Amino acid sequence: MADKLSLLYNGNTFEYPVLQGSEGEHAVDVSTLRKDTGLVTLDYGYLNTGSTQSKITFVDGEKGILRYRGYAIEDLATSATFPEVAWLLIHGELPTEQEVVHFRKLLTENALIHENLLSFFREVPPNAHPMGILASVMNALGLFNTKFYDDEQTGSEQFNITAASLISKIRTVAAFSYKASIGEPFVYPEADRSYCSNFLNMMFSSRTRHYEPHPVMEKILNALLIIHADHEQNCSTSTVRMVGSSGASLYASICAGVCALWGPRHGGANQAVLETLLDIQKSGMTVEQVIERAKSKTDPYRLSGFGHRVYKSYDPRARVLKSLLNELLDCGEHVHDPLLDIAIELEDKVLKDDYFIERKLYPNVDFYSGIFYRAMGIPTDMLTVMFAIGRLPGWIAHWKEMHDDKNTKINRPRQLYIGEPARKFVPRYARG
Ligand code: CMC
Repeated sequence: MADKLSLLYNGNTFEYPVLQGSEGEHAVDVSTLRKDTGLVTLDYGYLNTGSTQSKITFVDGEKGILRYRGYAIEDLATSATFPEVAWLLIHGELPTEQEVVHFRKLLTENALIHENLLSFFREVPPNAHPMGILASVMNALGLFNTKFYDDEQTGSEQFNITAASLISKIRTVAAFSYKASIGEPFVYPEADRSYCSNFLNMMFSSRTRHYEPHPVMEKILNALLIIHADHEQNCSTSTVRMVGSSGASLYASICAGVCALWGPRHGGANQAVLETLLDIQKSGMTVEQVIERAKSKTDPYRLSGFGHRVYKSYDPRARVLKSLLNELLDCGEHVHDPLLDIAIELEDKVLKDDYFIERKLYPNVDFYSGIFYRAMGIPTDMLTVMFAIGRLPGWIAHWKEMHDDKNTKINRPRQLYIGEPARKFVPRYARG
């Protein structure tokens, strides 16, 4: 394999180094291209452009492989806890027993949010979208942590506390926004509960209802958060790195990441999938009709939960979720959900359809996640919030990696200007 790429331009030859990643992937480093040739690269949607080197997550979209720090997603989702995976992503190694205990202590001590913030939940309109609430509160949390504005601190205990505080508080924020939306008093986090049990308790207990999460629900929630925890340079993570590259704080960068995740082509797809399934159920439309609509070239409609920029085979995260379906159905907690039958029929028909086969459009992580969250009682408009809770450790890990990398520069893409050439200013009276 050549370790240089030669470019012939305007009669001159230029050479660019080809770098090799630890899984054998190759990338050409064009950092000096503009200086050498005056050219910039144009790559809509970054189909070919790597924005950084990273040690956090490996994805092979052709083979359907996803690994965090070298560990297979299938092993992590079934054998680790979400806090362990968060630690792994942020620090690079699975935590030792001592680190597990320490991290747990930090999560417990930082689960509460400042009482002054509670009025925010009560004042937002009852139909406000939970992702909007989440973005606002994640940013506001930074205003209450004035200790974390020293730029040099990512290796310090203060950074560990801030990371744990964000990971712990996001779950409290999500549950409080739900309670506020249904007009119930907040349920506070409890020290002796696991991360997932605490969340479910804050969501579904009340002064008049004792709720004890079923162990299978806890296990499934743990797996869901783990499979969402990172996915290398996706739209929201790149946003976190982009905002952070300006020197903006971790809080401001995470707030931007939440906003990026909200869109229906990214994390918002899990809400859109459930809405599609509900539409099929309520409108009497057949699965075939929905598939035909998604294939139409005159209708911008897309079938949410299918397709992925990187995966051109079955998304390994969707595979992990599918393998948990039987546990969900057998656990006794699950009331038969007709949407699951519709989802299975939809997947089956899509996988046999030439349009989807030719374009390698397979179910992605969002296809089944909504069904699981629904079984837990999570409302549809909170599904993307669940994705954000899971993705937070990944965002923190990438912000830290970007911050600590001596090669980081402020992210500032180039463009090809296609507007008007220079022209003379026209005074207002002469504009017709
Ligand atoms: N339904 C119908 N057609 C589709 C779909 C879909 N879900 N996804 C892609 N296509 C078609 C698209 O119209 C295009 O067709 P043609 O070549 O004839 O123009 C072709 O497949 C390639 O699509 P693309 O838009 O060039 O692919 P992309 O890599 O830019 O988009 C995607 C990836 C995920 C945005 C897209 O597949 C999509 O919109 N899927 C639905 C939304 C969704 O489920 N998003 C969640 C992704 S997983 C969670 C995450 O990591 O964010």
